[in-house]
Amino acid sequence: MAKTKNIFHCTNCDYRPLKWMGCCPSCKEWESIVELKTNETAKPTADLSFDLVPLCAITTGEQRRMLSGINEWDRVMGGGIMPGSFLILTGDPGIGKSTLLLQIAQQLAQNNRLFYFSSEESLEQIKQRAQRVGCLDSRLLFCEQTNLENIIAITKQEKPDLIIIDSIQNCYSDSSTVIPGSAGQLRESAFHCMRLAKENNIAVILTGHITKEGTIAGPKMLEHMVDGVFYLQGEDRWQTRILRSVKNRFGAIHELGFFEMHEHGLQEVSNINQQLLNEVSYSPGSALISYIEGSRPLLLELQALVVPSKFGIAQRVISGVDQKQVIIIAAILEKYLQIRLSEHDIFFKVSGGFKLKESSIDLGIACALLSSYFQKPMPEKSLILGEIGLTGHIKPINQISIHINEAQKFGLEQLVVAHKQKVEKVQCSLLHYKNVYELLKLF
Ligand code: TYD
Ligand code: MG
Repeated sequence: MAKTKNIFHCTNCDYRPLKWMGCCPSCKEWESIVELKTNETAKPTADLSFDLVPLCAITTGEQRRMLSGINEWDRVMGGGIMPGSFLILTGDPGIGKSTLLLQIAQQLAQNNRLFYFSSEESLEQIKQRAQRVGCLDSRLLFCEQTNLENIIAITKQEKPDLIIIDSIQNCYSDSSTVIPGSAGQLRESAFHCMRLAKENNIAVILTGHITKEGTIAGPKMLEHMVDGVFYLQGEDRWQTRILRSVKNRFGAIHELGFFEMHEHGLQEVSNINQQLLNEVSYSPGSALISYIEGSRPLLLELQALVVPSKFGIAQRVISGVDQKQVIIIAAILEKYLQIRLSEHDIFFKVSGGFKLKESSIDLGIACALLSSYFQKPMPEKSLILGEIGLTGHIKPINQISIHINEAQKFGLEQLVVAHKQKVEKVQCSLLHYKNVYELLKLF
C-alpha cells in the first residue's frame, strides 16, 4: 500500500515548514500554510537519454544582439538585447516603464518580430500612449492578455524574437497552486517565462513594479532567476529618468542610461555630463569630482555646508555618500589641520541625487569641507581625484585616464591629485598634493 507523507507549504511565499503553523515563519502571512498530499511511492522517473559533453565540443557562434538605436538603452543592455535573454524592468508605478518599452519595441520592430502583451492596460489605453509618443508601426503587435498559459502558447507557436509582458504582477497562471498575486505565484510565473526564453531562444522582458514592502511579491525576489534586472528611477529635477542595470549577465552592472520625460515620451540624454557641469556653482563648499558608474565617468558636484554648531552636539546631515566616509575625513582634517570641525554642523550632498561609494572621492570631500569652512571657492574648472589615508596622506586612484579624458572633453583646466599619481599626456595643469596640510595652500 502506498505510504503517504504530509507536506505543508505557504500559499503566499511557498515556504515549506515541517508541520502546520498559523503564521508563516518566512513571509509572516497568517493562515497561509496548507497541506499538500504527495504519494511517496510515485517518484518521478528520470530521463536518461541525454549526453555528457566536454565544453570544447560546444560551438558558441556570436549571437546577434537586438539593437534599438536608442543608445542609452542599448548601452545599458550591454550592447543590445541578447537573443533568448530573460530580463526584468522595474521601478515605481508611473515612472515610465510602459512608455520606455513601447518606444524600444517600436524601434526593435523594424528588424525583429516582437509581441507586446499588456496585462495592465487595455489596447485603447496603449493606443492613446502610442499616439502620444508616435509609436504606431504596423509591425509591432499587441495583445491584451493576463493568462500566462495563453501568452506562452502563442509565443511558442509564433516564435517571435522578443516578447514584452507588461506587467508580470498582473498575470495569472491556471496551473498555479498558490494564491494569484502572491509571491509564490509571481515566482512560478517567472519560472515559466524563464523556460520559455531559454528553451525557445526568445528574449522575454517583464515589467514589475516595486511593491511597498520592496521584497514580498515584488520583482526583487526574481533577481536570481533572470539574466538582467534594470531599474527605471526618477530624478526630481529636470524630469530625468535613470535606467540602471543592477544585474546583467550580458553586460556591465551599474551601467546608467539617461532619459527625460517629455510631452511626447522619453527622450535620451546623451550629454549628461554637460548638463551636470552646467549646474556646478564653483562657490564655497563646492568640489567637482569624477565618478565611474558602469562604464562611464560622471562629473558631479559635491556640496558641503560647514557652520558653527548652535547646540551641544554637532549635526551631521549627509546624503549621497556614506555618512562614515564624511565623518572620517572630517576627523582627519580636524586632527592634522587643527580646525574644529567637531564644533561645526556639517551638511553634505551630491548633485543630481547620485549615491557614491568610492574612496576616490575622499579628496573631493575634503576639499568641499575645507572650502565651506574657509568660505573660499576651489579654483574654477578643477577636478579633484584622490584617496585619503587615516594618516592624512593623499593616495593615487585607479583608472585616472578615464577621468582625465572626460575632464579634457569638457574643457576642465586643472586636476587636483595625489603627489604620486602617475598621469600621462594631459593638457590640464596638475596640482599635486602629498597630504592634507598641503591642501591649505588652496585656501
Ligand atoms: P507609464 O509609462 O505609464 O509608467 P509605468 O509603466 O512605469 O507605470 O508613464 C506614466 C507617466 O508618464 C504618466 O504620469 C504620464 C507620463 N507621460 C509623459 O509625461 N509623457 C508621455 O509622453 C507619456 C506617454 C507619459
Ligand atoms: Mg505601466
